[in-house]
Amino acid sequence: MTTMNPFREETVQTSRTVERLVAGTATSDGAGVKLTRVLHGALQKRLDPFLMLDAFGSDDPNDYIAGFPDHPHRGFETITYMLAGRMKHRDSAGHEGLLESGGVQWMTAGRGVIHSEIPQQEDGVMEGFQLWLNLPGRDKMQAPWYRDFGAADLPRVVERGVTAIVIAGESHGVAGAVTREATAPVYLDLHLDPGARFAQAIPPGHNAFVYVYRGGVSISGKEVPAQRMAILANDPAADGVVIEAVAGAKAILVAGRPLGEPIAQYGPFVMNTEEEIHQAVSDYREGRLA
Ligand code: FE2
Repeated sequence: MTTMNPFREETVQTSRTVERLVAGTATSDGAGVKLTRVLHGALQKRLDPFLMLDAFGSDDPNDYIAGFPDHPHRGFETITYMLAGRMKHRDSAGHEGLLESGGVQWMTAGRGVIHSEIPQQEDGVMEGFQLWLNLPGRDKMQAPWYRDFGAADLPRVVERGVTAIVIAGESHGVAGAVTREATAPVYLDLHLDPGARFAQAIPPGHNAFVYVYRGGVSISGKEVPAQRMAILANDPAADGVVIEAVAGAKAILVAGRPLGEPIAQYGPFVMNTEEEIHQAVSDYREGRLA
């Protein structure tokens, strides 16, 4: 019998526990876009290789309409996941794309891009996430790379009351839209029906977190409510995580292999040393970045 569903059971004997819950900080960025910075500078070491997670969501156009006009990046990757809304991207490497509801834009800044992200709507809801994934030092000056994935292009696992959209990495035998060797990132958007249970294998040394954006979940007996990030403990005895939804829930699960390299950041530049940051700033000022 053939099946449309490539679902493969993922065995997790012992789930990780929740080390702590993080609420995030309300802030604004770009030309005044309101957002919640969930993963910020103080957690970069703990959640290496992830540098930042912003959650945005509003039905008030004043909160998002100004967007993110031209700004530079160097040394890492930005992954924008649009749950609702339309945003236009344009960059100095000649890439242009429209990010729509359910779509992902994966941009490797590498040695440098200057780009803009501008809403293409005057009202309605704009909601999503932007995650920053670090690059190993040897790849920080690589050529920029960019790709858009529409909602229909994203692989998914559908089974037993769970839909898992596999943005990066692998889940239940399904390869995600993007894979990366150095950091082996896993990025899943999980939609869980009431009572559903989802297991994902994660190597103990990899850093991982869950951010709940609808409803609430339970991880090893700990309740994780909406708008909270649960940092998962790196328990050497745990071989993954089991997420249970009491009521219905939606959450992202993010995991990756830490780089263990020094992190030097100045705004949109993330390098290994202060000297490389000075170089990035002067390259940008003198028009050599992109
Ligand atoms: Fe940006």
